[in-house]
Amino acid sequence: MSTTSKDSAPGTLGAPNARRSTMKAVAVLPGKPNSIHLRDVPMASAHDVPNGRGVLVRVLRVGVDGTDKEINAAEYGKAPPGDDYLILGHESFGVVEAVAPGVTEFAPGDCVVATVRRPGSSLYDAIGLQDMTTDDTYYERGINLLHGFLAEYYSENADFLVKVPTVLLSVGVLLEPVSVAEKAIGQAFEIQRRLRVWQPKRALVLGTGTLGLLASMILRLRGLEVLAMGKTPRPYLNADLLEPIGVGYQSTQDVSIAEASRTHGPFDLIIEGTGYSPLVFEAMESLARNGVLVLLSVTGGDRRIEIPADRINQGFVLGNKVLVGSVNASRADYMTGVSDLAQAELAHPHWLDKLLTHKVRGLENYRALMDTLVSGTNTIKVYCEVAEQ
Ligand code: BGC
Ligand code: ZN
Repeated sequence: MSTTSKDSAPGTLGAPNARRSTMKAVAVLPGKPNSIHLRDVPMASAHDVPNGRGVLVRVLRVGVDGTDKEINAAEYGKAPPGDDYLILGHESFGVVEAVAPGVTEFAPGDCVVATVRRPGSSLYDAIGLQDMTTDDTYYERGINLLHGFLAEYYSENADFLVKVPTVLLSVGVLLEPVSVAEKAIGQAFEIQRRLRVWQPKRALVLGTGTLGLLASMILRLRGLEVLAMGKTPRPYLNADLLEPIGVGYQSTQDVSIAEASRTHGPFDLIIEGTGYSPLVFEAMESLARNGVLVLLSVTGGDRRIEIPADRINQGFVLGNKVLVGSVNASRADYMTGVSDLAQAELAHPHWLDKLLTHKVRGLENYRALMDTLVSGTNTIKVYCEVAEQ
């Protein structure tokens, strides 16, 4: 591994006066709807990070999701203190360009994904579980109070980067959403250790976007029977994608969760990620005794519904059931994600590639990126190819 390229600016191998002072980035003005734009921002450098732990990453791909949509709609997201703009992008994939002297675990040429949340001040943050923070304020790159990765480069502390083997080059941009699914499933298994002998057989995944598809895949790798439900009736690309990995699909327009549970359940594990909160209460009624229901949807609205409260409550009490929320992911969840992505590639070659349905080339095409995300057809994962490998 070359040490000469350590701590140097891109392409200059340590010639400081040749350093670029700016780079291109896609940003929004939080609070101002549809403010997405391309701008020049200060060039990232491995020196931005204290204690010689900086890594400069050249960005290759950045995925976008509903969170980016909400941020551009000014419904979510905050700029870093002192800036009026927020660089978008939290689903990253890039290649290490340079490392500061205190970094031994990465070298130029390594493929990396950055985690999203940064530590605040709670006890959980102190042990690297900032995804479990109890602070009021949370810091998330590309989302809240920290700039994201939809730029030519970013710099980051090595502690917050995860190495991705080159065999996962084409699908590494899926690692951030995978990490969110890994946390949800990992939490469920961790909680169920209370039962000493939990042997889950049947799982229900509500929602068949990227997250639902990835969660279904992970649960299949764990040996569960999986039924996925979404609102779209067949013919539906996402339902077709589930078939080869042995996951059934039912549209909630054709059958209720209760009906599906009678034919395919009861479900030992349910993952809810539709974004439609009333389904939570239907799911609660279809959970098996001793089962666990994990909620993943960040629902910003103010929806109200009437529910059979006594019946649901009694089912939970008499059935020792668990309901748990899950947000973000820890570094360990990313590591599990890397190994599950590799396992998925082996078990179902090229299946993951099929989730990458819409590629938009170049940061300058940020409009097309947002338009595809908001109103594209047959979209699963929309991503920006910032640069080629
Ligand atoms: C991101 C998570 C984040 C959550 C809440 C999601 O889109 O993938 O990393 O914690 O939004 O901001
Ligand atoms: Zn996201």
